[in-house]
Amino acid sequence: MNSRVHARQQAQLAWDISGQNLIVGQREACPLPPEVLATLTAASPYVIQSFGGGLTAQVLRLSIDGREYTLKQKRAEARVQNIDGQTSFLNEVQRRADFTRLKADPVWAARLQHIVPTLYADYRLGIILSPWLPGAPLARFDTAIFRQILQTVVTCEEAGLMEWDLCPGNIIDDDGHVWLFDFGYMYPFDPLREFNSNGLSDPLFHACERFETRNFFGWLLKQSVQQPNAESLALFRALKEVAVEVYQHKLCWLQQQEASAVVCDWVRDITQRWQAALVDDEALAALFEIEYFRSQVLDIEDDLHGKSCTELTLRRFAVVEQCLQQRYAALQQGGALFYDNAGKSQAELLTLYRHKRALAEQYQLR
Ligand SMILES: Nc1ncnc2c1ncn2[C@@H]1O[C@H](COP(=O)(O)OP(=O)(O)OP(=O)(O)O)[C@@H](O)[C@H]1O
Ligand SMILES: [Mg+2]
Repeated sequence: MNSRVHARQQAQLAWDISGQNLIVGQREACPLPPEVLATLTAASPYVIQSFGGGLTAQVLRLSIDGREYTLKQKRAEARVQNIDGQTSFLNEVQRRADFTRLKADPVWAARLQHIVPTLYADYRLGIILSPWLPGAPLARFDTAIFRQILQTVVTCEEAGLMEWDLCPGNIIDDDGHVWLFDFGYMYPFDPLREFNSNGLSDPLFHACERFETRNFFGWLLKQSVQQPNAESLALFRALKEVAVEVYQHKLCWLQQQEASAVVCDWVRDITQRWQAALVDDEALAALFEIEYFRSQVLDIEDDLHGKSCTELTLRRFAVVEQCLQQRYAALQQGGALFYDNAGKSQAELLTLYRHKRALAEQYQLR
């Protein structure tokens, strides 16, 4: 277990049993007393829609005196066994407090216009109240959308907050204006001296990778893209062009702030790799292959870890196994075989993924 992660988890568990409370905002911002909000159920006449599928919370859409609100209520018992799941509501209230502080500063406020405002939150009551955001889960991509997401997530990183879960259900598209509103898995880190909230141990994870792994490449998989075609390559190009622009800005900021050489070099290397791939379609297709494989491998581990496999997980296996069969040498050279996969032969990896696939078949959510 990563010591940085372990320390954060222990601090959150200790805080939880300490009995302290964390309140964000003023109770006057609530249309009903917070104690009443905490007891509302989906059957209440104020509730016009409910999202009961969350593992640690339920979300109610309220309509009160002509205004609409989103009420997130903590479950008495989280439906997940792991510590990060159990502390995700606390974590989200902590991040709501961070964003409320940041948004009070006009310099940050302008850069955080895609982060939902918090009207009120009370950890011990188990409530987070936000305005209702019209729109729908993000299901289309273009340059403007890529730019809003990456600029926002990199702004969060500059503020010392690393977002891990940019999945489709956590991004709303309101007619081209994107919103982020679920911060259950966003953790503090030192952006000048660490790669992410795991410290310096996992350079693999950063804003663009998180968006690709949790969202973009899963979306392509749902469109049945097994290998890059003209359309998916064009979208990938648009994404990487924005990513280069945003990461170059981040590098300038890191240098101005006198960040450590290891962090500056890491951002510079990532950016240069993308720039090299943007020179022609062949280089871009090679990068697509490496990163597509990487993201499917990472998401398979997430699904297996959470025992939350779906039909999409099985499709991820199809990509991974096909890539291993046909492009093993390219994956190895491109650095796509990392962690447990590093140093394994093609045959060993194919056997490993056959076993993992059998597990994923057992863990199918029904
Ligand atoms: N402010 C909001 N405006 C509109 N819709 C929202 C808002 N907040 C949440 N939603 C809707 O509710 C759904 C669930 O919200 P959210 O992602 O915050 O919790 P969750 O992921 O269900 O919780 P858990 O962390 O327990 O899994 C979202 O996918 C989105 O459709
Ligand atoms: Mg969510």
